Amino acid sequence: MLAERIKAVKPSATLEITAKAKVLRGQGRDIIGFGAGEPDFDTPEHIKKAAYRAIDEGFVYYTPTVGIPELREAIAEKLNVENKIQCSAENIIVTPGAKQALYEAIMVLVNPGEEVLIPSPYWVSYLPMVQLASGKPVFIPTGVDGEFKLGAEQILERITDKTKLLILNSPCNPTGAVLGREDIKAIADICRDKSIHIISDEIYEYIIYNGKEHVSIGSFPDMEDLTITINGFSKAYSMTGWRLGYASAREDILKAMQRLQAHSVSHPTSFVQKAGFVALTSPESKAQIEKMVRAFDERRKIITERLIEIPEVKCSKPDGTFYVFANFSAYEEDSFRLAEYLLEKAGVACVPGEAFGEECRGYLRLSYALSMEKITEGVERIKRALKNYEVKR
Ligand SMILES: Cc1ncc(COP(=O)(O)O)c(C=O)c1O
Repeated sequence: MLAERIKAVKPSATLEITAKAKVLRGQGRDIIGFGAGEPDFDTPEHIKKAAYRAIDEGFVYYTPTVGIPELREAIAEKLNVENKIQCSAENIIVTPGAKQALYEAIMVLVNPGEEVLIPSPYWVSYLPMVQLASGKPVFIPTGVDGEFKLGAEQILERITDKTKLLILNSPCNPTGAVLGREDIKAIADICRDKSIHIISDEIYEYIIYNGKEHVSIGSFPDMEDLTITINGFSKAYSMTGWRLGYASAREDILKAMQRLQAHSVSHPTSFVQKAGFVALTSPESKAQIEKMVRAFDERRKIITERLIEIPEVKCSKPDGTFYVFANFSAYEEDSFRLAEYLLEKAGVACVPGEAFGEECRGYLRLSYALSMEKITEGVERIKRALKNYEVKR
């Protein structure tokens, strides 16, 4: 009865684990959730106030499909100044979340059968989006040396005459890996040479540590036409529920995304766009982001230190995001089974590694967007539970 296009699309493993944790909490169990994909900080007050103000002023009607002019201008300015991407407001579409921008970009670029290169481990929604566009996913495993760095050579090996697109995500969800300037330059050189488009998902750009620099591939010479840069407000400004994101793209791509958006979601909520403008342009936002990133950095150090104290667990300190991707394969290769066990026995919710790529067996993703007390208690529970774990390999 259902359409073919939806049949291959699996439910989101991240949402499933969250739902299971919720059921257990409903039964009165004390569950520590390492599953969350969102900051545990409230949206800063000055951003909330901008939304209240917009509602009070009656800014409650349809807006242009591509977003309100001042927000598009502010995004273009940010991309030029911070990311060194040459663009104007005409190149910007504001979307209900970065997810919608990614979906639109993939839908307007990929023809049935065209190949999309996806470095793996990858964020859970890239694959379903490519499947919905009837594209062919081609994975590039990056975890072989434990560093999760995407090498230019690996891309080159997988390019065929059907390759249309590469999806880049640095800082990366789930691994926290951050690509350096040289890595990105090498990738840009290949894509320019082979005329391969790039979707660069930069949603974690500010959540970066160790003085690492975020580099946008769209800033390299002649790359602005091949690159669709995607970003959003969810992570940097703790605005996950507001649903606000954007894309910067060449005008013909942008116009196509505009058509898709016009006939589907229309545009992001009017007063949310006003709040987004304040988030982007107010100096207060920078201070709030710095405070949040400092807190994440402290938690990052603690969670990695505690995890590697568990015998046989391997986990490198990630350079970005608020996730660690830890290797538990000495205990269990089946990460779904391991996540289930930890939820039942230890009251700890983690996301199974296999949700991010088939080769991520034995891995778990742990988000450290939760209090230091919960982090230490949660890892302690994992350690205790694994002492009794019957190794299945
Ligand atoms: C890598 C990545 N891209 C995009 C998104 C989507 O963000 P948004 O809330 O703006 O739709 C997420 C959210 O978890 C993400 O982790």
